[in-house]
Amino acid sequence: MVDGGRAGGDARTGDPGTGAEGVWEERVQRAAHPLAYPALRSARRRPVVRVPRIGVVVSDAAIAREVLLDLDHFSKVGPGAPSDLWTPVLGPSVLLNMEGAEHAALRRALGPLFSPRAVRELVSGADVAGGAGTPGAGADGGGVLPDLTRRLAAGEKVDLAAAVTAQAGAVICGMVGLPPTDDAVRSAMSAARTITGMVRLHRHGLTRSQVVRARAVLERLTAPARVAYRAGDPATVPGRMRDLGLSEREAMGAVGAFVLTGTETIQSLVPRLVAIAHDTGWTTRLLADDAALRRRAVEEGLRVTVPTPAMLRSVRADATVGGLPVAAGERVVIATVNCCRAAGGFDPDRPVDPAVRHLWFGAGPHFCLGMPLAMAQVDAVLDALAAAASDGRVPVVGRRRAARGVLVPAYRSLELSLGESA
Ligand code: HEM
Repeated sequence: MVDGGRAGGDARTGDPGTGAEGVWEERVQRAAHPLAYPALRSARRRPVVRVPRIGVVVSDAAIAREVLLDLDHFSKVGPGAPSDLWTPVLGPSVLLNMEGAEHAALRRALGPLFSPRAVRELVSGADVAGGAGTPGAGADGGGVLPDLTRRLAAGEKVDLAAAVTAQAGAVICGMVGLPPTDDAVRSAMSAARTITGMVRLHRHGLTRSQVVRARAVLERLTAPARVAYRAGDPATVPGRMRDLGLSEREAMGAVGAFVLTGTETIQSLVPRLVAIAHDTGWTTRLLADDAALRRRAVEEGLRVTVPTPAMLRSVRADATVGGLPVAAGERVVIATVNCCRAAGGFDPDRPVDPAVRHLWFGAGPHFCLGMPLAMAQVDAVLDALAAAASDGRVPVVGRRRAARGVLVPAYRSLELSLGESA
């Protein structure tokens, strides 16, 4: 049966709607942030509003872009900005807490790690290497995604959230220079989650004891990266960083930043995208052999899920944001989730407002460095699902559970099996 495509949500108000897509997306968001999510959403009908304890909240895409591009007045370094959170844990030079010429130079140096070829190698390397014992992988050592295809095609129920977690963990192992064994993948993912789980929107930084814990966790995680860097083996990412001219400190900072920014976002996006496609009757088209259609559906999935729901900036010098005066030292919270979802629920057939396009990956000099890797990881999972679909059957969603207490809203489990599309 060909699915018909049911758009959810209200394009006028940005409300998620009462269809299964809207209901489940709300559950996922509220399970992660029972207080901060409703607080952010309550600001959504005003382009800019000052919210006590949170900051100046921006819910309009065009104004958000103006802030992200105005480097004279808004910065990732300063009170209330990401530097407050991450500098004590990662050190002062890890892209997401830098500005200016040094930031641009480090981005240039890291660029080749995200070339199409490099990300292909990282994703396929993670998969080939993800052998027996890797969470979600088969006893034949065939890798997480081939195993996902095989089990689905054999009529089994699989947990997509677990498979994507294993895949994302294997990519991180590749980055830190570890073979993705069961233990390595599990501890990489739980290390990343331990650290990001400490972040709360109403607190500007981590407590002293959280910083100590986060540093210890990160040190354990990046220890193999340090060894790989020192060995200088260009087959490993840390070895390539050395080849690219990065100092050991810069390379370890970058590895830490990749782990913190690049794991939970993927874990969040892929199962939610597949769930939304199921709930709106888009699965057949998402998995069809049509790259342009898939790209549109994935981008629309990014627009409605917004795996990075907010971006923080510190006001460097007195300015106005959408007409509201802001003072140096104040915090601006770009509510990306409000900006992106203002157009309503998932509908890949609706043209995307240029102000919103790609805002889910940011804008300006801090635009997501890992976007090519993210897209390659999504494609790899969708290819694995498409390979299992046959005889008009597609993966359909069974039982699912939202994850609680995580920084990036996600499914804790999402059961899939082959069946007739809705
Ligand atoms: C669906 C997946 C992802 C989404 C939605 C996403 C979103 C974002 C956003 C919105 C920013 C900008 C934040 C700001 O300006 O405050 C960002 C920055 C960044 N992302 Fe991603 N990201 C994703 C995946 C990844 C992956 C897989 C990696 C790679 C390991 C990665 C690495 C980075 C880095 C290093 C930065 C900081 C760049 C800088 O400050 O110059 N991201 N990401």
